Amino acid sequence: MTDLPIVLRFDDVSVRHSGSHVDAIHGCSLEMKEGEHVALLGLNGSGKTSLLMAAAGLLPHEGTIDVDGIRLENSSLAEVRRRIGFLFSTPEDQLLFPRVLDDVAFSLTTQGRKEGEAREESERMLEAMGVGALANAAPYELSFGQKMRVALSGALVHKPRLLLLDEPSGALDPPGKRALAALFAAHPSAMLIATHDLVFAERCCDRFILLEAGKVVRDTVQIGEITL
Ligand SMILES: Nc1ncnc2c1ncn2[C@@H]1O[C@H](COP(=O)(O)OP(=O)(O)OP(=O)(O)O)[C@@H](O)[C@H]1O
Ligand SMILES: [Mg+2]
Repeated sequence: MTDLPIVLRFDDVSVRHSGSHVDAIHGCSLEMKEGEHVALLGLNGSGKTSLLMAAAGLLPHEGTIDVDGIRLENSSLAEVRRRIGFLFSTPEDQLLFPRVLDDVAFSLTTQGRKEGEAREESERMLEAMGVGALANAAPYELSFGQKMRVALSGALVHKPRLLLLDEPSGALDPPGKRALAALFAAHPSAMLIATHDLVFAERCCDRFILLEAGKVVRDTVQIGEITL
């Protein structure tokens, strides 16, 4: 994989939440290559969500972050976001439309895809996520796990260069987790997946990063080296 383009580069990145006296991420450097699937592991409060949010430009940072070769700064934010798919750990934060299908299709129409085509592709994505029957439902009618599946459909459908996913399997039932891991394993986008689920991570990731108190303490292809 050595010659593949780098889709995410952190160079000495620190992140501090407003009002906090300590860094949530401290002096973090890492690189991810095109198509690479990386699990971001660590205990509660270790900094996984903060790292993902910084990579999407949702939190201010020190140091430098490059997404698909673009330096992340205020002036490049829109361009960076077009290359990213993001999943919040609370999916209701990102379901904006009154109908599920329109929510997923929005990811495609904002990229210039024709409406009919966007609708068909979104239906296929919802089907693949096991929620095809809910295409005409309203988000408030869905269970938490169903909302997660819909939000994931919106994040994946336009095949962004980089997916930043915060605990995507957390709310899923066991068959749902297995199906999602298989879908991720075959998905072409690079993925950075924050998760506590080592079995899930092993099924769909080729590399495992361990955070402790905001620092990368392990970066390995052997998940067996990591205990939580
Ligand atoms: N909005 C906030 N304001 C202040 N500090 C915050 C805020 N959000 C997170 N933090 C702090 O940042 C640190 C990292 O939190 P973060 O949410 O990134 O951890 P995490 O690894 O995602 O944890 P979890 O496994 O519980 O989701 C923690 O010390 C936390 O207290
Ligand atoms: Mg978190």
